Amino acid sequence: MKEYEQSIIDHYGQKDLDTHILEACERAGRRITLHGDTASFDEFHIRGRDATRELARLANLREGMKVLDLGCGVGGPARTLAAEFGCRVWGVDLVEEYCRCAAMLTERVGLGEVVTFRQGDMTDLPFEDQDFDAAWTEHTIMNIEDKGKLFAEIRRVLRPEGIFALYEICSGSASPPHFPLPWASDQSISFLTGQDALGGMLREAGFEEILWRDVTEASLEWFRGVVAGIKPRTDNVPRLGLNLLMGTTAADKSKNIVRNLKEDRIRVVQGVFRRTE
Ligand SMILES: C[S@@+](CC[C@H](N)C(=O)[O-])C[C@H]1O[C@@H](n2cnc3c(N)ncnc32)[C@H](O)[C@@H]1O
Repeated sequence: MKEYEQSIIDHYGQKDLDTHILEACERAGRRITLHGDTASFDEFHIRGRDATRELARLANLREGMKVLDLGCGVGGPARTLAAEFGCRVWGVDLVEEYCRCAAMLTERVGLGEVVTFRQGDMTDLPFEDQDFDAAWTEHTIMNIEDKGKLFAEIRRVLRPEGIFALYEICSGSASPPHFPLPWASDQSISFLTGQDALGGMLREAGFEEILWRDVTEASLEWFRGVVAGIKPRTDNVPRLGLNLLMGTTAADKSKNIVRNLKEDRIRVVQGVFRRTE
């Protein structure tokens, strides 16, 4: 295994995550039978399911499209693309526990026929050339050091004119960001790039820009709403949020995201690109 793969697995991996999630849901009295039942914890990015829906609309994802979700986490975005946009989705993630948990949740909500997961490296994809109509990624590229290799792989597996949609964190005007963050406890697995540089790399890799939007303000607005909605807990019922995925440092990671956004150390972007011939 390559060194960076182990570092990513060490950061995100949680032994028995699937059991941990099911137990937390049971204690909170939540049954997992419908796609909506997992929304509070299975979209591991700013603005949750709404962000996925928004990008899917911008990218014009639609029924019957074959989509690859790179760095799929526990599968929330992949399930949304299948359940709400009619896509057939393949998810790939380095972390075995995430893939196992993604498959378990997908079976439970009845989407196992249209969403498939496999463990793998998104910079070395286990798929044939020109296999997908669209490639998709949310909050993963900041973990990837060799972005040139990633974009070359995405281009390889997309059919000509295929769509690449991304929702990512870029560096801002100040650096470095404050750690820990949801994607890295320190600098060693965080590879932030400026917006212009990221767009430039994509064009160089053979992608044509359809849309590029800075959504930093909307992200801050969302956090304000989240903070305003938090009520002090007086019971022992587990919270079913991203705390399930972020572990014991969840509160510090979330606080640092907000601080980094406010200090312009990070920015949030949406992009839609088309593979050139
Ligand atoms: C912040 S999470 C986002 C998960 C998911 N995209 C979502 O929005 O719910 C980042 C994900 O990228 C995955 N990841 C990071 N580097 C990767 C790589 N080289 N190959 C595959 N997955 C990777 C991590 O394992 C993790 O699941």
